Amino acid sequence: MSPPIVPPATIGVLGGGQLGRYTVVAARLMGYGTVVLEPDATAPAGRVADLHVVAPYDDPDAVDQLAARCAVVTTEFENPPAGTLERLARDVVVAPSAAAVAVAQDRLAEKRFLRGLGVPTAPWTPGGEGQVVFPAIVKTARLGYDGKGQVAVADEDELTAALAELGVECVVEQRVPLDVEISVIVARTSDGRTATYPVAENHHVAGILDLTVVPARIAPERAVEAEGLAVRLAEALDYVGVLAVEMFVSAGALLVNELAPRPHNSGHWTLDASVTSQFAQQVRAVCGLALGATAVTGGGAAAMVNLLGDRWARGEPDWAVALADPAARLHLYGKAEARPGRKMGHLTLLGAAADEVAARALALREAVTR
Ligand SMILES: Nc1ncnc2c1ncn2[C@@H]1O[C@H](COP(=O)(O)OP(=O)(O)O)[C@@H](O)[C@H]1O
Ligand SMILES: [Mg+2]
Repeated sequence: MSPPIVPPATIGVLGGGQLGRYTVVAARLMGYGTVVLEPDATAPAGRVADLHVVAPYDDPDAVDQLAARCAVVTTEFENPPAGTLERLARDVVVAPSAAAVAVAQDRLAEKRFLRGLGVPTAPWTPGGEGQVVFPAIVKTARLGYDGKGQVAVADEDELTAALAELGVECVVEQRVPLDVEISVIVARTSDGRTATYPVAENHHVAGILDLTVVPARIAPERAVEAEGLAVRLAEALDYVGVLAVEMFVSAGALLVNELAPRPHNSGHWTLDASVTSQFAQQVRAVCGLALGATAVTGGGAAAMVNLLGDRWARGEPDWAVALADPAARLHLYGKAEARPGRKMGHLTLLGAAADEVAARALALREAVTR
């Protein structure tokens, strides 16, 4: 077993979005050096790192630079080139591994992995094969996120048209009735220790996460089952780092929707309402340190609402309103341009009861962006 990687070692992050930004901040708070590889010179994570290497993710010189400077490299998005991860793994610890990322970045590989373990999912077939139960959703196997790369289809004609239009490898999934959507964030170290955060309840609007509430308002035995399932998946992938498992509760039963090989939007509440944020946990897990406490702190409940670029339509929202609420925490990612659907920031409300914090978070967002 390799010794833990401790400060002031340097941690590399592939990707420059808000997930990378928080990972860098968490690492820096602990005294680590930080390097981000990201082609966009204005990206949120690059601006807070010790060094931002502005280059494509597969640029050989840039990857060599990361390998030379870092003790460990992690990723904040699901699509780092496999070649980059493999090249880095020759010299430094890479977590999660290229093999684990390969499963999570391809919906077909992911569904086959889940089927192989006997883990329930919505009924699915590879695009163009087998019997499809309608209504269904066609999802591109790769590169989809926030509902992008998905087409709802009601019958065979629409399915044929959608597959032709997308023109890439797809998964066709039955649209299942949802009682509620949940996620479990699990961290695992290379020597097999795990820690899960309390189950989060997620509400999406137009395929994009809108509201997360913890603890999820589901049966306690379902929550135990969900956490156990997430641990089982992390173990089956021999996963190292933070893994998010999105699930549906459908007719009372758990179905796994998808895996994200990184910290997750539904874990942003941990920045303000947990001893250990999911980003600090990522650092701990990939460095082989002890995993931190994961309970909801403070009043015991938290709600997070996303701030999408749409809310900038009439100019900058009134942040003073958000900052005037003593139970609210405002986060902005420092993105220059507010495009519709783009995640610009979020608000977290802390309190004692899930119902109450959820209602207050939604109301505060309206007040800020009125
Ligand atoms: N099979 C399904 N049945 C019902 N709703 C679904 C199904 N698949 C996806 N959705 C809805 O669409 C959202 C986004 O789909 P998801 O597969 O998680 O893609 P993304 O990678 O964009 O997050 C889900 O969170 C859920 O609200
Ligand atoms: Mg999803």
